[in-house]
Amino acid sequence: MDTNLSEELPFILLKREWQPVAISRELKQGEVKGFVLLGVEIFIARLSTGLLAAEDICPHKGIKLSLGAVCNDYLQCAYHGWQFDQEGDCINIPSLINPPPNKLKMSRLKKYEIQERYGMIWVQLEKDGSNKLPDIPEFEDPDWTYMAANPTVFKSGFRREIENYLDMTHFAFAHGSTLGKAASPVVPKMDIRIFDDGFQMNAPFPSLATPDEQPGKLQEAHMRQQRCYLPNFTTIRQTFHDGDMRLLVHIPTPNTREECTVFWAIAISPGFKGPAPEDQMSFAVKVLDEDRIMCENQSPKEIPLAPSKGGWGVLVSPGDLLANTFQKCFRQYLLDRLSLYKEKDPSEGGYPV
Ligand code: FES
Ligand SMILES: [Fe+2]
Repeated sequence: MDTNLSEELPFILLKREWQPVAISRELKQGEVKGFVLLGVEIFIARLSTGLLAAEDICPHKGIKLSLGAVCNDYLQCAYHGWQFDQEGDCINIPSLINPPPNKLKMSRLKKYEIQERYGMIWVQLEKDGSNKLPDIPEFEDPDWTYMAANPTVFKSGFRREIENYLDMTHFAFAHGSTLGKAASPVVPKMDIRIFDDGFQMNAPFPSLATPDEQPGKLQEAHMRQQRCYLPNFTTIRQTFHDGDMRLLVHIPTPNTREECTVFWAIAISPGFKGPAPEDQMSFAVKVLDEDRIMCENQSPKEIPLAPSKGGWGVLVSPGDLLANTFQKCFRQYLLDRLSLYKEKDPSEGGYPV
């Protein structure tokens, strides 16, 4: 196994993947906001013609365009009022009565791919038509109740969050007052399958009903299916004894090497017999905050790619099997993408090395 992968590599390759950057409802018509995605400062504006994502630097004097304002079809820079359309073209320089076409052309923004789906705004920093968002029909099924949560910032690397989301043996401890009220710390038998685009795990949720603790619907024993679509889109499907289902997704968008924003959502099956959707959401917020504390207090902030550096692959318990499956599959994803892009000509999306 190649143990010398650069720690920068995930950030280079993830630029070609769709990452959620904002919740749709957070960016209203006529608003512009700044974000950090994979170490790149970007802005997103909702113009009357649609969404625009671009580098957060005005080509004139370099001020942040996220400080600007949306004027109908255009984004206007806060400093000298240059205006840009949805294509990123500069269409007006107020200090020039007739701006010469070459000046306007030179003032084009560095624009990024953008789309809106699952109640989230997704950005791809380097165009790659072969990378698509996973299709999750339940999220778009009008009979299911779908709620995209307010995203949560974790001051930890994004792979720490993924490991935490996959981990089945922390419920009794890290979630002692919520999810883990009646959780068994014993590792369930996991059925793990590897696919070209990720992996899947089926296992029973380890819950114990005792005379002292009768778990509520959300803590009770159920079947759990976790599906990871590499690099960082992971769903959990819970099937309860009465056939009710919930489908959760977590996507930790890397902001920097040591910080990510966790985008997440819940879909609830029709006629779910249990807590109301808003109560399920508040419960999930509490659980996520307990996870945040665990992730933010691990050292190092991000899990090293090389197992020899101690981040994984040493001192593991059987319960770490799924987290290690992620680390192995993620390394393979990096290696596969690297060789794919190296083979291609740069004009066809080849990797520029
Ligand atoms: S810095 Fe943006 S218009 Fe001058
Ligand atoms: Fe957790």
